[in-house]
Amino acid sequence: MTKILEVKNLSVSRIEKTKLSPILNDINLFIKKGEVFCLVGESGSGKTTLALSIIKLIPKSFKISTGQIILDNFGDILKMSEKKLRSIRGEKISMIFQDPGAYLDPLFTIGVHLREALHRNTADYQTLINQTLREVGLEQNIQNAYPHQLSGGQQQRVMIAMALINNPALIIADEPTTALDVLTTQQIISLLNNIRLKYNTSMLFITHDIDLALKIGMRIAIMYSGYLMEIFKTCMDTPLHPYTKILTGTSQAKIGTITDRQKTDDICPFFAKCPEKELRCKQKIPFFWKDDETGIRCIKYGRTPTV
Ligand SMILES: Nc1ncnc2c1ncn2[C@@H]1O[C@H](COP(=O)(O)OP(=O)(O)OP(=O)(O)O)[C@@H](O)[C@H]1O
Ligand SMILES: [Mg+2]
Repeated sequence: MTKILEVKNLSVSRIEKTKLSPILNDINLFIKKGEVFCLVGESGSGKTTLALSIIKLIPKSFKISTGQIILDNFGDILKMSEKKLRSIRGEKISMIFQDPGAYLDPLFTIGVHLREALHRNTADYQTLINQTLREVGLEQNIQNAYPHQLSGGQQQRVMIAMALINNPALIIADEPTTALDVLTTQQIISLLNNIRLKYNTSMLFITHDIDLALKIGMRIAIMYSGYLMEIFKTCMDTPLHPYTKILTGTSQAKIGTITDRQKTDDICPFFAKCPEKELRCKQKIPFFWKDDETGIRCIKYGRTPTV
């Protein structure tokens, strides 16, 4: 098994006037070559912060307090120079965002965007651009168009082309279909899937839609309030965490949509809302790994704790 990316003990805080407020707490996960790894959690649970930490692009008001982000055989991203990081971003790891319109410059044509996205200085860049456009199902003449002349679906295809053009090892897609209608969503999802199959690209797919994650993901990580609550395989595991069971509809318990941000580590992050809570949940709950690839942060369903 080749691990393309490994996140080790990652903790991120927001710098406030007098204190640091935790945003991500001791995240551990890895993504395998060719894997679609989904990150699911409600708004504010820290999904985007995790994605931005991976390419070291978190907001200035955030601080990575501990952790390592190991990229294949390139070492720890968090220790890389800005120059090295610039070559890693786009070339080895690309990102696709929710709102493609916001990332395309209205003053430049699509052709210019694609040329800019290409990191290599190759003489046959035009052939590569033409080929990438074909790959994402866009007409060649779209190169002369400006972003505002495109539909949301076309703009997202352009973003995918820009993400794809350097043949990265990992594509991070942060809610790439949230702004799109149902039909366009299906087309974009099938496009991403085809790309993955053809190039064996790994994908970190972020969504709040558990049904979509169950459809496309090989493993799913559930986040709540900056904590990883469960990682499970979609093909064989039945998720056990009370929060996951609510998300998947196997538990009928109702919870509000607002995440309580955890103030202390001495209690399960989901305690306030958990329909299965017990007294023993009022202690620091570790992430119990079941095997290398799956695990759970729950004292009721966890097994041998590992650090
Ligand atoms: N630029 C920022 N400045 C200050 N706080 C921020 C900033 N971006 C995010 N946060 C805070 O960090 C926490 C995690 O946010 P994040 O955007 O990572 O969540 P998310 O899971 O991606 O949510 P969503 O599903 O809404 O995209 C939230 O409490 C949010 O309010
Ligand atoms: Mg987000």
